[in-house]
Amino acid sequence: MRSGPGRANLRRMHGPSPDEKHPMAGFPQVGFLKNWITRPNIVVGDYTYYDDPEGPERFEQNVLYHYPFIGDRLVIGKFCAIAKDARFIMNGANHKLTGLTTYPFGIFGEGWEPARPALEELPLKGDTVIGNDVWIGYEALIFPGVKIGDGAIVAARSVVARHVRPYSVVGGNPAELLRMRFSQEKIARLLAIRWWDWDAAKITRNLKTLVAADIDALERAD
Ligand SMILES: CC(C)(COP(=O)(O)OP(=O)(O)OC[C@H]1O[C@@H](n2cnc3c(N)ncnc32)[C@H](O)[C@@H]1OP(=O)(O)O)[C@@H](O)C(=O)NCCC(=O)NCCS
Repeated sequence: MRSGPGRANLRRMHGPSPDEKHPMAGFPQVGFLKNWITRPNIVVGDYTYYDDPEGPERFEQNVLYHYPFIGDRLVIGKFCAIAKDARFIMNGANHKLTGLTTYPFGIFGEGWEPARPALEELPLKGDTVIGNDVWIGYEALIFPGVKIGDGAIVAARSVVARHVRPYSVVGGNPAELLRMRFSQEKIARLLAIRWWDWDAAKITRNLKTLVAADIDALERAD
């Protein structure tokens, strides 16, 4: 019997499987992140990767102050590129701000329990939500509750304390708009296309268009 393309070959023709822990042969520092997540309050979409020479398993160490009793989630979309030591400060980091002291007496117990704030007294900012096709640079720091729109770029070592618009480039401390990647008209069209929701075969057929800058061709893609 003639041998046709096996399962592995077929898979390779449409890029790596999003279920691979190490999608790059011979380069284990890159991990498809969703396969490394152990916490129920971290949700990561297909193909989003974390790149760390010390191993992709380090990602969760950089999701800081993430306590189950608070219940906040870190939600990351598909096809994001996350550089080494990008860090996410979650809501558990924030002490009560409205008292005469911010010192958290209550956490120590032993008679100091009455100083424990109710959850609603904490300055909770909600879930941290990163869109699709977001590139987060080396050692960026993302604050609780920040929403980063699809297609955004966060420059290396930025401190992101405010929401980030889709297809914007932000940088610095505090991170500010450096520039928009495209015109508003083009951004609206990209957000309508949502190429990241295409199946792997369609993405493969349209790779050249995706990495070029021809939005008309992307809209015609089939
Ligand atoms: C965001 C980034 C992609 C911008 O690249 P670029 O468009 O070529 O930007 P430029 O170098 O032309 O700089 C544009 C402006 O942004 C500023 N800028 C760039 N990077 C910055 C940063 N990390 N923090 C603050 N400002 C920054 C520049 O000073 C410049 O400001 P100006 O217009 O006032 O002169 C790049 O600076 C960056 O941070 N890349 C991340 C790389 C990384 O972490 N890779 C990890 C492996 S994936």
